[in-house]
Amino acid sequence: MQHKVRVWDLPTRLFHWSLAATMVALVVTAKVGGNAMQWHLQLGQVMLALLVFRLAWGLVGGHWSRFTSFMYSPTRLWRYLRGQDGDEAVGHSPLGALSVFALLGVSLAQVVSGLLSDDEISFAGPLARYVSGEWVGQATWYHSDVGQYLLIGLVVLHVLVIGFYALLRRRNLVNSMLHGDKLLDRPVAASRDDMATRSRAALVATLSAALAWWVFRLGVA
Ligand code: HEM
Repeated sequence: MQHKVRVWDLPTRLFHWSLAATMVALVVTAKVGGNAMQWHLQLGQVMLALLVFRLAWGLVGGHWSRFTSFMYSPTRLWRYLRGQDGDEAVGHSPLGALSVFALLGVSLAQVVSGLLSDDEISFAGPLARYVSGEWVGQATWYHSDVGQYLLIGLVVLHVLVIGFYALLRRRNLVNSMLHGDKLLDRPVAASRDDMATRSRAALVATLSAALAWWVFRLGVA
């Protein structure tokens, strides 16, 4: 018998698709350049708010969105890689968890380096004025030379792995990121996803947006 379990709560799903859309828009505006850079800065603020939200939701969100539910030991990862991990992962698998932490970490590094960057023509990140020229130089180099390619590479890998699971392992991971549920062979605890948790998410999202707005305001103060 199969059990339908809510794994990804609505806030996590909204976060995921908003992050994906924001990242695509950030890459497009960076490539277009010129006046589109105004949008790039605005989108950077959205990205910061999204990442702060996800870090907080990793602590207070639904069960399977909490970091503690997908922190695996190296032994468990090794067993998984060798195909010796009997149970199908409910939330992120050990390998999926690695990619999630990498995506979140490298995205955060991209936003922070953007905050400190300066193209020395017309656009500077809001915090560039608060650090030394040497830091600005390093941040600008990382943001435009290393970070963006690292991030694009991770996203491409992410989508390829999802495709690999769909085509070769016959496991559709995308559906649950759309409607939240997974069909599992065993009954497991679901993520809470009701009005109370969604209201909590709205509060966390508002606070995250306020923090990102404040950080960007420092650039015009
Ligand atoms: C710029 C594009 C994208 C970024 C930055 C991104 C980032 C992420 C992140 C951070 C997570 C972890 C979710 C969480 O726990 O909060 C995730 C999971 C996931 N993403 Fe994406 N994603 C992108 C595009 C896509 C696309 C296009 C698809 C569908 C083809 C997709 C499908 C998924 C799925 C199915 C999961 C859950 C994986 C699992 O079950 O472990 N993502 N993604």
